[in-house]
Amino acid sequence: VVLTQDELKKIAAYKAVEYVESGMVLGLGTGSTAKHAVARIGELLRQGKLSNIVGIPTSKMTHEQALSCGIPLSDLDSHPVLDLAIDGADEVDPFLNLVKGRGGSLLREKMVEGACKKFVVIVDDSKLVEHIGGSGLAMPVEIVPFCWKFTAQRLQSLFADSGCVAKLRNFPASDQPFLTDNGNYIVDLYFKKDMGDLKAASDAILRLAGVVEHGMFLDMATTVIVAGELGVTVKNK
Ligand code: A5P
Repeated sequence: VVLTQDELKKIAAYKAVEYVESGMVLGLGTGSTAKHAVARIGELLRQGKLSNIVGIPTSKMTHEQALSCGIPLSDLDSHPVLDLAIDGADEVDPFLNLVKGRGGSLLREKMVEGACKKFVVIVDDSKLVEHIGGSGLAMPVEIVPFCWKFTAQRLQSLFADSGCVAKLRNFPASDQPFLTDNGNYIVDLYFKKDMGDLKAASDAILRLAGVVEHGMFLDMATTVIVAGELGVTVKNK
């Protein structure tokens, strides 16, 4: 039997939920993979196999889903240190660096996942890359709407040597700018050549006024669970 991509996502998600113990404060990720983990945590709570869980959602969408699954919720103000977060990713490199945010939730994800003792990333094997940002796919940057063209132009210029093109993200099938949960815009950066040193690229992006956060999650994941046709692989930092 050939498994669908969604079945692989679910397998990775269920494996990650094995790391969850009663009494934990949990970061709840966003996206089509993380939603399986949220649903599974809700199921184990209902079955009485988990208890005393507090969830910190990384988006409004996950907040809604977690509420409907009966997971008690809180926020970073009340719980500045979390035990564990589980979330998907768009790209994962061999050093467990990630690109996230193609769903637009990168800022809250980075805040929540940066506050966790353990961060377990769940992906199907299509997300594995040699170099993040080098796959011709989007590296998202959240920016303030004020003079967004100016900020997009400066982002593009930063990586002129890598053939970078910066594009404002719209809502799907619309010409209206996509708005994040924080009321900001997203500029997607596309690279012809990979961007070189990731830490230097991260620092340069964050130094630009107008930038709120970017989707490179460097040195944050502690475990990556990869589901593929041949089974599940667990990579630890
Ligand atoms: C949300 O903004 C993202 O960071 C997601 O976590 C990431 O895009 C992975 O999403 P999927 O699991 O839907 O591929």
